[in-house]
Amino acid sequence: MLLKKGAPMSDNQANKIIHFFWNGKRLSAVKGSNLLQAALDNGLDIPHFCHHKELFSAGACRMCLVEIESGNGELFPSCQMNAEEGLRVRSDTHRVKNAIKWSLKFHLREHPLDCPACDKGGECSLQEAYMRFGLFESPAPLDGDRKNTLVPIGDRLMLNEKKCILCTRCIRFLDHVTGTSELGAFGSGKDCKIVAYKSVDNDYSLNLVDLCPVGAMVSRDFHLKQKVWLMNDVETICIGCETSCSIKVSQNRAGVYRIRPAKDPDVNPNWICDYGRSIFHHITATDRLHGPMKSVNGRWETVGYDNLPEIIGKKNVKFILNSSLTNEEVEAVICEAKPDAVALYNLPNEGDDFDGLLQRSKKNINWRGVHRIFEKANIDHQNSGLEAVVAGLTKDDIVFLVVPELIVDHDHFATLVERIQGEATLIGLTTNYGVCSTEKFEFLFPLPTFLEKSGTIKNYKGLNRCLRKGENVYGDADRDLLYYSKVVRDIK
Ligand code: SF4
Ligand code: SF4
Ligand code: FES
Repeated sequence: MLLKKGAPMSDNQANKIIHFFWNGKRLSAVKGSNLLQAALDNGLDIPHFCHHKELFSAGACRMCLVEIESGNGELFPSCQMNAEEGLRVRSDTHRVKNAIKWSLKFHLREHPLDCPACDKGGECSLQEAYMRFGLFESPAPLDGDRKNTLVPIGDRLMLNEKKCILCTRCIRFLDHVTGTSELGAFGSGKDCKIVAYKSVDNDYSLNLVDLCPVGAMVSRDFHLKQKVWLMNDVETICIGCETSCSIKVSQNRAGVYRIRPAKDPDVNPNWICDYGRSIFHHITATDRLHGPMKSVNGRWETVGYDNLPEIIGKKNVKFILNSSLTNEEVEAVICEAKPDAVALYNLPNEGDDFDGLLQRSKKNINWRGVHRIFEKANIDHQNSGLEAVVAGLTKDDIVFLVVPELIVDHDHFATLVERIQGEATLIGLTTNYGVCSTEKFEFLFPLPTFLEKSGTIKNYKGLNRCLRKGENVYGDADRDLLYYSKVVRDIK
């Protein structure tokens, strides 16, 4: 009945549904699955710290104890057992409850209960457990200075040794998922602690903050920025690469604070890369463009949206789009604005690299969707199409150049801007004005960021992925490509 690690199952064993009983409740599971996980999947709320669905079980925290109904009273950690037909376990006996309470007291032995000031407060498994068991008194630390708070362990991470409950999730993630093994547990008894052999700087390091069941793993970026209960999460997709992981963006009216993974069986497990977690800072940056601007002798002056028809006048309208736009944005320009020319700017030399976990080198995230729309409209989406538009520019033309929201090759984009500058009137459509060569534009008009618009893209697998607009907006979300396309349509 105890889990035999690595024991193979035959094919007909593998998918067999069995029934077991937890506190008398009949539950079902695939034969041989992890007992704790099976109970959790059936909707039971069982305190646990070290077990994680996507990591090997460690049996370290002793919070998931159960007693077998027909047994001799011995207690077992359910995360170390298999779900078997007819198995009957209880976690509601006095004996089990007492043992769990002792485990919890042990975890709280040195743990400072400063939950209101902790980044994890409000979503911490330890906090939930001691509230449930009524252990509200913070026990006096054994000897306060043996362990440290906020030890730097990487460029993006700090470790609060006093809060660590030695569940080893962080070690197992680095050993088995990234394979970088930067952390280990050193010492014994009360001196045992997590130690970094080397700086934890791998591309997935910030997942440790989510995996840590308590507030011991601290993100330098998020530390003390906002309380969990003062934010709401928007589920959308990452625009960092063509994988397009599902993400949750935590925001409120005052700002955007963090990005975390939203598990999606088609694309990503419960983790994402650190780059994907960092792509929100421009949304509330000081260079966010809140209204149209005109360059006058090297200075920006505000103009109104209603000046746009006058700026366009009788000029030929040409759009240069990019492959990080949504299908709907590109369709709006091609089908609604019907400009005199449309071309596509592609980021160069992207390669086709994949890091083996999630990250892909292609940042033109929606190239599949955008190419399809261009092909349908019989427009050249290759560099040859862009070359033809740029080479043919005259003073009678006005170019709407859409600045990619996350530019990764500034020099390449700057070269394009320089080639257009002086040849035609140049309007930049952008989320931020400090991003790339914007000083060379004659006009800048705002666009919404990925968190302020809805739409679809096609990811690396050809799956349709949905961007969802958050509850809060920080720029002018109404002035999007559909708006500008309608203005152009009405003039022509
Ligand atoms: S730092 Fe967090 S994840 Fe790592 S062992 Fe300690 S409690 Fe567990
Ligand atoms: S792998 Fe790509 S899509 Fe996923 S989080 Fe990272 S950058 Fe974003
Ligand atoms: S969850 Fe079972 S021992 Fe930690």
